[in-house]
Amino acid sequence: MQNEMLQFKKNFEERLAAAQKEKVRIVIKEQYADAFDVLEDCENAHLIPGIIGPPGVGKTLILRAYAEKTNRDLYWVTGDEGVRPSHLTGAFNPSIVLNKGFSLEAFEPGPLLKSMVFGGVFGLNEGNRLSEYVQNSLLDPFEEGSISVQRLGRIKASEGFFPVLTMNPEEMSGAHRLSEALRDRIRVWIRLGYPRKETELEIIKMNSPEYTLSDAVLEKIYGLVSATRVSTDIEIPASIRAGISIARLSAEMTKRQKEKTISHATLSSAATYVLVGALRFRPGIDAEPAVNSLVRRSLGS
Ligand SMILES: Nc1ncnc2c1ncn2[C@@H]1O[C@H](COP(=O)(O)OP(=O)(O)O)[C@@H](O)[C@H]1O
Ligand SMILES: [Mg+2]
Repeated sequence: MQNEMLQFKKNFEERLAAAQKEKVRIVIKEQYADAFDVLEDCENAHLIPGIIGPPGVGKTLILRAYAEKTNRDLYWVTGDEGVRPSHLTGAFNPSIVLNKGFSLEAFEPGPLLKSMVFGGVFGLNEGNRLSEYVQNSLLDPFEEGSISVQRLGRIKASEGFFPVLTMNPEEMSGAHRLSEALRDRIRVWIRLGYPRKETELEIIKMNSPEYTLSDAVLEKIYGLVSATRVSTDIEIPASIRAGISIARLSAEMTKRQKEKTISHATLSSAATYVLVGALRFRPGIDAEPAVNSLVRRSLGS
């Protein structure tokens, strides 16, 4: 047991260092280059931006790249009804409070407070899913750059604090609406959509550096994922991630079969493994046969 703890500690330190060394891999062109510039303009103009786009289009990645470029950390929270203000701000650790009282030493800061104190980029994912009460607790930090920490006092955020909202376009209306008050604090709306074909293929290649993917295979993968984005039977189409997964899985399957090039059968099989879970069909449509016919239609049989 003792030994295991020591080993864990050593490996944990190594993993911390590994995370530090990791660089963001991102294709910065077209909409991504524009988004990056507007983020910078917003920050300089003291305006809070929202990045709006479907899942997996690169919203979090661009924030990560922006934070890295400006030498800051990215802190983030994903909204749901279970999130309380203390998840954002932090809370006292009761066992330390016993000895130290309600002092700073006993306080464990949350991501919002950390980004305000350290001057980091704060990504609020799906902030519209937060309860209205929690959304309202963000008004002060977002508008005034200040926050009250219970029993410790009110602080003013450091210069580098930069909050950014990210959300799904479908949720701009409907059950999970952003509260009027919070929406009013978001001053600039940056839209990200699916990238152009060449750009999406470049993204797939960047995320598959250990594999060789022919142009023909990349074309087919793009044909498949883009078909899901125009189908009226599909509510949630293939994201960029799905294309990356199909590329990587089919290349790995080909390696295992000791074949040189990705065959039609292998590509169909990999695509099916990925897409059965990656897509959401309209109610009443059975995913498996729908995916099979989609793959057959797009790749040919
Ligand atoms: N511009 C890009 N350059 C490189 N990879 C990208 C790019 N956009 C998306 N990706 C890939 O897609 C994945 C999903 O992006 P992510 O930022 O998590 O999406 P979102 O936050 O919009 O759901 C990333 O992890 C990355 O692999
Ligand atoms: Mg995200």
